[in-house]
Amino acid sequence: MTVNIGVITSGGDAPGMNACIRAIVKVSSTDKDASIIGIRDGILGLLRANEDDIFRLESSHVRNIINMGGTFLGTSRQSQIARFLSEYSQQYLKDTQLTGELIKIGVPLIEENIKKHNINGLILIGGDDTCRASLIISKATNNSIPIFVIPATIDNDIAGTEVTIGFDSAVTAALQAIDMIRATATSHKSLFIVEVMGRNHGYIAVEVGIASGAEEILIPEYNYNKIDLKKMVRRLQSAPNKKQMGAIIIVAEGVSIDCNDDDKLEPVSFKLARYLKDKIKEWEIRVSVIGHVQRGAPPTFVTRVLASEMGLEAFIKVVRVAKMQSGDNKPMIYCKNQNEFEWKDVCEPILKEHEDDLINRLEKYSFLCY
Ligand code: F6P
Repeated sequence: MTVNIGVITSGGDAPGMNACIRAIVKVSSTDKDASIIGIRDGILGLLRANEDDIFRLESSHVRNIINMGGTFLGTSRQSQIARFLSEYSQQYLKDTQLTGELIKIGVPLIEENIKKHNINGLILIGGDDTCRASLIISKATNNSIPIFVIPATIDNDIAGTEVTIGFDSAVTAALQAIDMIRATATSHKSLFIVEVMGRNHGYIAVEVGIASGAEEILIPEYNYNKIDLKKMVRRLQSAPNKKQMGAIIIVAEGVSIDCNDDDKLEPVSFKLARYLKDKIKEWEIRVSVIGHVQRGAPPTFVTRVLASEMGLEAFIKVVRVAKMQSGDNKPMIYCKNQNEFEWKDVCEPILKEHEDDLINRLEKYSFLCY
């Protein structure tokens, strides 16, 4: 039996997505009974299904992309999908969220397009929204086709796996930026507050904080109250090198700090700068939000190897299951823990919850900070 395997990159892009697609397409040439169908712009492409949204992926498409950040297939966020479904249904034009009603409208569209393009299995590459999408698509198709998720997000926040594709690259990009910030911070003897990504988790902040020798690392897993902030001020004031050198505070974007400042839209780094301004006289304070260079970074060798390993394995798995035509498939995600790979069911909670692990790690390395 010949099987058609759809490949989708979805949600926020991550370095290594291209390397992963490449691995899937390359290994597919070893099986004459399998072909790879590329789907553009994430789940949006599967819903929209324009003429060039769903196409056969050939080796020529994946030539010279292993080193490229982003995803050449394109991707989409929930808000774009919600907008498309609102316009499509013409009933919910004001909705910008992917609500239950909009999902109900999308489900038959997905079912129809999967049938129309004769897709027998799917590989979804992405983060938490992608895991949720796998459950929705599985429901839409009555579990009739196998759906396998490859975890790819810079945030490294997916439950069940120690690592996700792209995390290492985002940390490396942030580290390069912080090393450069350190040079100018030291020259001017400034205190830099550097904001890194990670959504509601501090995985990027902790690794980059340890690697850059940051004086302070603030993560969302910890709720900083006034006492914690006062302690931080005292540590900075009594820093042994404060006269000669600058200092760096890494703050993860998801941190919330209790400092009588209730502007929820303002980046936390600016809030923190305002809080510290009157308290730290020794240093001039500067803020640097590193932003999307972390996400669009070129994949490091660690990311490329992980993406290749996961892509290869996902192809083998999806083809084997698709050929069995069991008709009872639960979405699965490929996880890596302590150097061992394992397929696990996609299930709630989708996001990591072991917050103590990260706090303990932070505490363990805190004595290296000053
Ligand atoms: O999930 C990846 C990520 O880069 C997060 O770290 C960040 O919070 C978010 O995406 C930013 O998304 P956007 O670019 O859509 O604002």
